[in-house]
Amino acid sequence: MSSQNPKNEISRRKFLQNSTLATAGIYLGILGMPKVFGSVLMDKDAKGIPDIKLNNGLKMPMLGFGTYGLSGEVCQKSVVEAISSGYRLIDTAKVYGNEVEVGKAIKQSGIDRKQLFVTSKLWVDDAGYENAKKGFEETLRKLQVEYLDLYLIHRPRGDVKGSWKAMEELYKAGKIKAIGISNFDPPQLTDLLSYAQVKPAINQIETHAYFQQTNDYKVLKQHNVQMQAWAPFAEGRNGLFTNETLTQIAKKHGKTTAQVSLRWHYQRGIVAIPRSSQKAHILENLNVFDFKLDDADMKAIEKLDLNKTQFPEWS
Ligand SMILES: NC(=O)c1ccc[n+]([C@@H]2O[C@H](COP(=O)([O-])OP(=O)(O)OC[C@H]3O[C@@H](n4cnc5c(N)ncnc54)[C@H](OP(=O)(O)O)[C@@H]3O)[C@@H](O)[C@H]2O)c1
Repeated sequence: MSSQNPKNEISRRKFLQNSTLATAGIYLGILGMPKVFGSVLMDKDAKGIPDIKLNNGLKMPMLGFGTYGLSGEVCQKSVVEAISSGYRLIDTAKVYGNEVEVGKAIKQSGIDRKQLFVTSKLWVDDAGYENAKKGFEETLRKLQVEYLDLYLIHRPRGDVKGSWKAMEELYKAGKIKAIGISNFDPPQLTDLLSYAQVKPAINQIETHAYFQQTNDYKVLKQHNVQMQAWAPFAEGRNGLFTNETLTQIAKKHGKTTAQVSLRWHYQRGIVAIPRSSQKAHILENLNVFDFKLDDADMKAIEKLDLNKTQFPEWS
């Protein structure tokens, strides 16, 4: 990912044991969850991950599985592992070049489609009314699914208005359960809201301890648009996994810096979608609902904000 060209993300293409524990943990962890964006719901079928209610009433898991950079067999195996471990939200995108493998993994998992929350994204090459409809159909075909739970405009480029109109129609036709955006800044969101008939349910943006997006956080909250964090670990850049503050907090709670990071997102009411190709990490990242960061922890993490992207090559 680090070698990606920001202006042409297309080049990136070339690129159960714990569910009981997590289920038990959620009944404790839910107590520490502020109702920041939508309302948090308990769902006994969610394998330990609480749901949030989006602005259109759709339930979405508060923690999902990212698939950027996963390809071929590794992708398929990791997604199967994630589903069998208890993840229900799977995040992919046309530009990741792995929708076919994600679709195979969904089939292989044997899970009822209705239990999953499948997200994909419209790439900039498919912007505009006609292209967006074609792009969406291609995504459905590759994923071997009849509908998407969430479809996002990946980046605010090209004919966003045309793309949004197409997505609104697909949403109204029941082919997508919720539509949203990604990488939109507040003025771009305001512009979309000026003509949208359907309000975006989500904005997926880079968010982690080093880039806390406090202004976007406030604006999204005001508009009741759910914030979703991509790169919740900043991909480990700038030493996030060994950061001294996160390490101290992790020791205090008997957790890892990855778990502290995910718990911090959760307590801010942000949906995180960490990615991993390692079984141990896939399980570790689920096990974040049995402890609570206190005010001192939250304040210490707040101080880590550099208010700067850790992915300048994409700007
Ligand atoms: N909308 C957008 O423009 C956009 C942009 C970027 C990403 N995304 C989405 O957001 C998802 C997450 O972002 P990301 O994949 O870029 O980065 P990330 O989740 O912040 O970091 C992934 C990295 O963290 C490592 N990792 C995971 N769990 C760990 C643990 N417990 N301990 C130590 N290392 C751990 C992984 O390595 P291992 O495999 O070794 O565990 C991998 O190298 C993506 O997969 C994608 O679905 C969206």
